[in-house]
Amino acid sequence: MKTQSIPYTNYKEQNRIDMVDFYNEATEDYEFWSNDYNMHFGYFIPFKTNPFKRDSMLNQMNRQVIKRLHIGKTKNRLVDLGCGMGATMRYALKHYKNVMAYGVTLSNFQVQKGNELLKGKNGIILKENYNNTSFQSNSFDSALAIESFCHSGHDYNSLKEMHRILKPGGRFVIADAFLKKDKTKLCKGGKYAYNKLCSHWNLEKLETHQFIKAKLEELGFIGIKVEDVSFRVAPSVLHVPFAITGFILKKLFGFNTIKRESFHNLKGSFYALLSGLHMKSFGYYMISATKSS
Ligand SMILES: C[S@@+](CC[C@H](N)C(=O)[O-])C[C@H]1O[C@@H](n2cnc3c(N)ncnc32)[C@H](O)[C@@H]1O
Repeated sequence: MKTQSIPYTNYKEQNRIDMVDFYNEATEDYEFWSNDYNMHFGYFIPFKTNPFKRDSMLNQMNRQVIKRLHIGKTKNRLVDLGCGMGATMRYALKHYKNVMAYGVTLSNFQVQKGNELLKGKNGIILKENYNNTSFQSNSFDSALAIESFCHSGHDYNSLKEMHRILKPGGRFVIADAFLKKDKTKLCKGGKYAYNKLCSHWNLEKLETHQFIKAKLEELGFIGIKVEDVSFRVAPSVLHVPFAITGFILKKLFGFNTIKRESFHNLKGSFYALLSGLHMKSFGYYMISATKSS
């Protein structure tokens, strides 16, 4: 990785600065990936979602995550930890009238543009660090994190903060890529894909799903469910080469230059595909649980 020679704490800080720059500059490119600005992969259900229609799979991911939150009929305060442009919040608000949605991100671009997309809806995006928010303890019924905790390396602090702000009995869902084994045990190809993926998408590191489960137990979560949904996610990952080619052609034919951050992002998407092919090393998981009462 490019910053390996820097001491770890500086590496963490540098990674965060690079990540924020990356999202401030490259977020608008995601319109090419998703009309609704979904900044994640999709969820495929045979005969239900069309594998050729990317947005239907991306919105199905929103649906699957929200379904696992068990939102009832009473008022539900929901927080999206690393919300991007608020696509999942908008999906929740459209389908559940009793939801009040908060999103946090570190990108000014996402705060400004994401809030424009939320205008007139019962939701707001705030510039906050999900590892250390200013929210009161025990204040949310639901929390979700789609492909966002990876930026902090699936850190214990992200889980601890999520636990703090959830009410007793509150639920969370994390959807993200995790390692299936410790990074020291990855094969040569797996290690190459992992290092490139982390550096191009500004991911501090990835953890194993076993690590997350152990930390959730330590925090006192109950009913922890770890689902390997890699095969559901794979069809949308296979869209990557086509989306990249289309994006580049559109820019070239429009005589537009491609920003450095956009190139970085495109290469990251390619390494996500490469990582996905190392099925013994990487998997895409949905992890959900309840905070004990
Ligand atoms: C790949 S995007 C996913 C966005 C959104 N969850 C979605 O699926 O559309 C990752 C998001 O995590 C946010 N993020 C990363 N680290 C963060 C942190 N420490 N605090 C708050 N947000 C963070 C980024 O700003 C970005 O919005």
